Amino acid sequence: MTATLETTSTAETPARIEPRDVTFKIRRFIPEIDEEPHWEEYVVSAYPTDRVLDALMKIKGEQDGTLTFRRSCGHGICGSDAMRINGRNRLACKTLIKDLGTGDITVEAIKGLPLEKDLVVDMEPFFAAYRAVKPFLIPEGHEPTKERLQSAEDRAIFDDTTKCILCAACTTSCPVFWTDEQYFGPAAIVAAHRFIFDSRDAAAETRLEILNEKEGVWRCRTTFNCTDACPRGIEVTKAIQQVKRALIFRRV
Ligand code: FES
Repeated sequence: MTATLETTSTAETPARIEPRDVTFKIRRFIPEIDEEPHWEEYVVSAYPTDRVLDALMKIKGEQDGTLTFRRSCGHGICGSDAMRINGRNRLACKTLIKDLGTGDITVEAIKGLPLEKDLVVDMEPFFAAYRAVKPFLIPEGHEPTKERLQSAEDRAIFDDTTKCILCAACTTSCPVFWTDEQYFGPAAIVAAHRFIFDSRDAAAETRLEILNEKEGVWRCRTTFNCTDACPRGIEVTKAIQQVKRALIFRRV
């Protein structure tokens, strides 16, 4: 005799999720036409689980092909689509519409870097500060014949700061950076931290000297904006504090 399996399903059909019309207020600037940036509105039919990047693509594809913004990976890895969304720095590709409330959504370029067009800024000052802290391993002695060993404990000391994707969300959320373009900014200090505390590196003193300059780490006013803005969850302010402590307690 063939056994029969009786099942009783208690699962209810999930409620159908409908798209809604969302108003995006985007701060536009086309240098060939505009003297000043100005706000323009676009209404997009969007699902709650759509990302802001999806909506921007839709606006560009269906309403205004001149809308300009950067994006590449679309998955929070490349760091190219940091922008100010509802007044806070975020990655457009990691920001869901349902997490922004039910009102209008404002989108503008990140602050403190020269505006080039719409949501695109000139990143060169940001990368100049990054390069200045020597963000690469500088070991001592000759090339070893096998890999440079490091304990798990030593690796853990700088694990957090290896996660940076150079999106500039932290640096361009910093009020000090907004008013002082010479300040290295949080991202450059995070990059320095990653090597200063690496047991295989021999140039910590050089980097600390660079960050001891007047536009270095002491310009930080511990506002925590950088930590709040980091899409990778890096404890940026804590890393900056650790660099300050390293400067205070170093033996020179
Ligand atoms: S598009 Fe690459 S991080 Fe958002």
